[in-house]
Amino acid sequence: EREDLPEVATPEALRPLLPRRPLTAHKGSVGRVGVLGGYRGDGLRYAGAPVLAALGAYRMGAGLVHLAVPEGTPLEPLEAVFHPLPAPALPPMRVEALAVGMGGGPWGVLWAMRALEAGLPTVLDADALHLEVVAAYRRAGAKAVLTPHAGEAGRLLGRSPEEVAKDPLEAARTLARETGLTVVLKGNPTVVAEGERLSLNPTGNPALATGGTGDVLSGAIATLLAAGLPPFEAARLGVYLHGLAGDLLAEEKGVGLLAKEVAEALPRAREALL
Ligand code: APR
Ligand code: MG
Repeated sequence: EREDLPEVATPEALRPLLPRRPLTAHKGSVGRVGVLGGYRGDGLRYAGAPVLAALGAYRMGAGLVHLAVPEGTPLEPLEAVFHPLPAPALPPMRVEALAVGMGGGPWGVLWAMRALEAGLPTVLDADALHLEVVAAYRRAGAKAVLTPHAGEAGRLLGRSPEEVAKDPLEAARTLARETGLTVVLKGNPTVVAEGERLSLNPTGNPALATGGTGDVLSGAIATLLAAGLPPFEAARLGVYLHGLAGDLLAEEKGVGLLAKEVAEALPRAREALL
């Protein structure tokens, strides 16, 4: 069926979606993001994950990032507004979108349930990606973008990661239909699905296969949600620019990228698309 052929995202289609910044912009007008993640019980082993999401959010152009993390988390990036917490909760903060679950361990589900109470467009990543969370977001009719890799998508679909990777188009489509939410199935290629819409991402390369690049992506997509883009558009544009950042870096230095460098290359990717 022709209508089942996925579109491949093109620069021409995505360029008009890029939020422009008027001369009168201020940090409260361009989109503020809340990041909720990390877990205390593992000795803060993955404390870097929400920090990388905050960097991704800032580098995609967020006006302000609030970072809710477990007490004891090293407080970076210095530009963020910190909410060190003894337990997973939704701190008072004025934001237009959330990114939830990075490095969350068993707090991932709890962070996600608290986040739902905010009624904001939300990126659910990593340890927030569990069936009970997705079901609650679905019931609430929430605006949410799920960003699983093949393993996390498999957990939601009751399949092995290998089965998901064998047919990512079908897996993304099924997950989007079953959850009623927007799905970014990460990998090569990354597939974005929502309802009957499917989009293949043409950017990105294996140099992105390094710890933390997914966390950068979740923050980046949250910024585009905060700027007012609908979930499918925020997902397609975020994935495209994140992959392009990885392509620009791979051209320069080959393999051996750091996730924070991918975040730092987002402004150049944005300029390249403009
Ligand atoms: N080609 C193109 N892009 C790739 C490739 C590849 N071969 N390999 C990886 N990527 C991209 C993915 O598309 C995605 O955007 O790199 C990113 C990797 O994201 P994740 O798989 O989420 O990895 P990571 O950021 O390290 O996750 C951190 O969260 O998902 C959990 O279990 C994960 O604990 C880990 C943490
Ligand atoms: Mg990840």
